[in-house]
Amino acid sequence: MIIAPSILSADFARLGAECDAVLAAGADMIHFDVMDNHYVPNLTMGPMVCRALREYGVSAPIDVHLMVEPVDSLIEQFAAAGATYISIHPDGTRHLDRSLTLIRDLGCRAGLVLNPAVPVAVAEPVLSRLDMLLLMSVNPGFGGQEFISYTLEKISSARRMIDSSGLPISLEVDGGIKVHNIADVARAGADTFVVGSEIFAASEYQSVVSRLRSEAQSAIL
Ligand code: DX5
Ligand code: ZN
Repeated sequence: MIIAPSILSADFARLGAECDAVLAAGADMIHFDVMDNHYVPNLTMGPMVCRALREYGVSAPIDVHLMVEPVDSLIEQFAAAGATYISIHPDGTRHLDRSLTLIRDLGCRAGLVLNPAVPVAVAEPVLSRLDMLLLMSVNPGFGGQEFISYTLEKISSARRMIDSSGLPISLEVDGGIKVHNIADVARAGADTFVVGSEIFAASEYQSVVSRLRSEAQSAIL
């Protein structure tokens, strides 16, 4: 089980220290939201910020979520900037297979992200290209939105699809995950949990990260 704090809700003026703090609090991976004011109506961080975090000393996996269109040149820039995972939306690229192949060719792990209204079946043809399937449980663009409950059904069906493929694909869920609902997300079959506002709004990260982990673990025992 992986807890991936989304630094979209961190203090951008202290980003390196915020990454250190959530990792020291027990988080596993940094979720890095890239928004281009085109694919989504918000503008965040680019590859220079990812590189700066690596140079600052962040050695944990960095999980780059590209909410951009087009994607291919940013895939190259993020691979060079030290990304571990690079995840893309199918409607962010004209040639999905080519973009996913590019991510792996550049030495990164490839993820496909599906918005709430996009069926899980979209991932089926490209499963062999994936290291991660990321299901959005909010509409992308902003932190702090409410979890869309119908996505639980999609998480279960993605879990069945991945299990029957026999492929080692992580199932990540992003948006609206809190201490009070992470157990439902785990029970539906997710193994990787993006959590933004719930962690960074807390005055102390360690207790919220451990509550998230124990809630998720209790659901799958
Ligand atoms: C939304 C982003 C999320 C967001 C999650 O477009 O992809 O990663 O930061 O934040 P919370 O946990 O606050 O919904
Ligand atoms: Zn995200």
